[in-house]
Amino acid sequence: MLDTKLNRPDLPAEIARRRTFAIISHPDAGKTTLTEKFLLFGGAIQMAGQVRAKGEARRTRSDFMAMEKDRGISVSASAMSFDFHNFRFNLVDTPGHSDFSEDTYRTLTAVDAAVMVVDGAKGVESQTQKLFEVCRLRDLPILTFCNKMDRESRDTFDIIDEIQQNLAIDVTPASWPIGVGREFLGCYDILNDRLELMDRADRNRVAESVRIDGLDDPKLDELIPANLLEKLREEVEIARELLPPLDPQSVLEGHLTPIWFGSAINSFGVKELMEGIGTYGPEPQPQSADPRQISPEETKVSGFVFKVQANMDPKHRDRVAFVRMASGQFKRGMKLTHVRSKKPMTISNPVLFLAADRELADEAWAGDIIGIPNHGQLRIGDTLTEGEMLRVTGIPSFAPELLQTVRANDPLKSKHLEKALMQFAEEGAAKVFKPTIGSGFIVGVVGPLQFEVLASRIELEYGLPVRFESSQFTSARWVNGEKPAVDKFTEANKQHIAHDNDGDIVYLTRLQWDIDRIERDYPDVRLTAIKEMQ
Ligand code: G4P
Repeated sequence: MLDTKLNRPDLPAEIARRRTFAIISHPDAGKTTLTEKFLLFGGAIQMAGQVRAKGEARRTRSDFMAMEKDRGISVSASAMSFDFHNFRFNLVDTPGHSDFSEDTYRTLTAVDAAVMVVDGAKGVESQTQKLFEVCRLRDLPILTFCNKMDRESRDTFDIIDEIQQNLAIDVTPASWPIGVGREFLGCYDILNDRLELMDRADRNRVAESVRIDGLDDPKLDELIPANLLEKLREEVEIARELLPPLDPQSVLEGHLTPIWFGSAINSFGVKELMEGIGTYGPEPQPQSADPRQISPEETKVSGFVFKVQANMDPKHRDRVAFVRMASGQFKRGMKLTHVRSKKPMTISNPVLFLAADRELADEAWAGDIIGIPNHGQLRIGDTLTEGEMLRVTGIPSFAPELLQTVRANDPLKSKHLEKALMQFAEEGAAKVFKPTIGSGFIVGVVGPLQFEVLASRIELEYGLPVRFESSQFTSARWVNGEKPAVDKFTEANKQHIAHDNDGDIVYLTRLQWDIDRIERDYPDVRLTAIKEMQ
């Protein structure tokens, strides 16, 4: 059995065995397939093909809408817990579409590590690069899986070099592929000195594992054709000379990523990757908070909301807040303090997303993700504690990149519209600004698809047809500063001022030039593109 304790020997065993991570990848690299195999080997599903039939990339917009409608699916996929060896894995799903990058960012605040999947033929693609940058901002440890090795793929050194160059992270091979494409036989497991041979006949079978004694072991001559064996020996020797060895501390600090080669669809390399997540992935890490950091081993329970999903059942206006437990052992029925409102909340119906068995969560430990059904009290960025006034920090809200005005087709329904918009704003699905002059609302998003999803949800969940129209503004900035300076500024720029759904002041404009001018003319006022959620 693998040792579950790594860099924090004082952690209680239940916490030390938890690994909470997300998978980042470009659409089509194999995230869905890999997730499915994780669940299969984690004993959470019996057969591959049960997660969902199609990957993100080939979903058309209408598929996406249908998925949004059938919200049960996306919720169950938002967090999945399963056991592997003596580890408890919590896999948090990142939304695949690039339009939802803010949501993705916040999801990554809830994990301790990320698995980066790259396609062996395509290498580092744009979305992988973007997501990687986000992980880098938080120094998240990254483990890499190079997928689709059963197909024609690039030269192994080439792939490693591209990751090192494009992502500025050192790479160490955990395994080395033998042959490519049709000739792909399997991998040499560098870490364990084993030969893993792929079974092409049965896609759900784990590879045959042959223990060997180094690459000069005569057993290899029987198992690998001479030309491939010679190449393997040569390449591994060069790799050992040129690439850094696996230094666990360096992995934890996010400077070095171990790479496994495999084929998710053939279940190949997946178990080794899972063992790697257990062995080299971090246990639940301390959480930055104000006025002090929270350590997972603290006996008092705390957690924070990183995602809210509303109206899963449109008839009931219910919401589920996804909470990452930051410390302690949570028990169902506990009374926690909702720090923002300073009010107590009894958590009587928490949901733990055990993929095998979705049940009420009787207990949860630091590192786990629980869902708390509520009627709107819980918002993104909120902290729950056993009484101490701690506020988890580092969950940002980004200025939207696209703005449009929204109107209800029936002008008498504008109050209804306001309610719906506020709901989506709290869910983090959009920014909603109310201009001080004039009527109506301006909605801000990161990607254009979000407007369509919003229009469809407002109609579906509130029975309210709406239309989005172009706005005279294209940029939004939060206004910060001492009250007298801010008052003077807002008074002089009334036609540009709005309030967001938290009541914070926002400056709207269509010209970058305007923003530069204000920085010059009002030195005591700061315009920011990021706001911390609180
Ligand atoms: P995503 O979630 O990252 O978007 O990717 P997904 O797992 O949906 O995989 C994208 C396509 O790549 C799928 O094929 C999937 O079967 C295939 N794939 C995943 N892993 C491997 C692998 O190791 N080898 C090979 N050769 N293919 C792999 P599809 O035909 O586009 O869709 P589907 O009909 O199979 O779902």
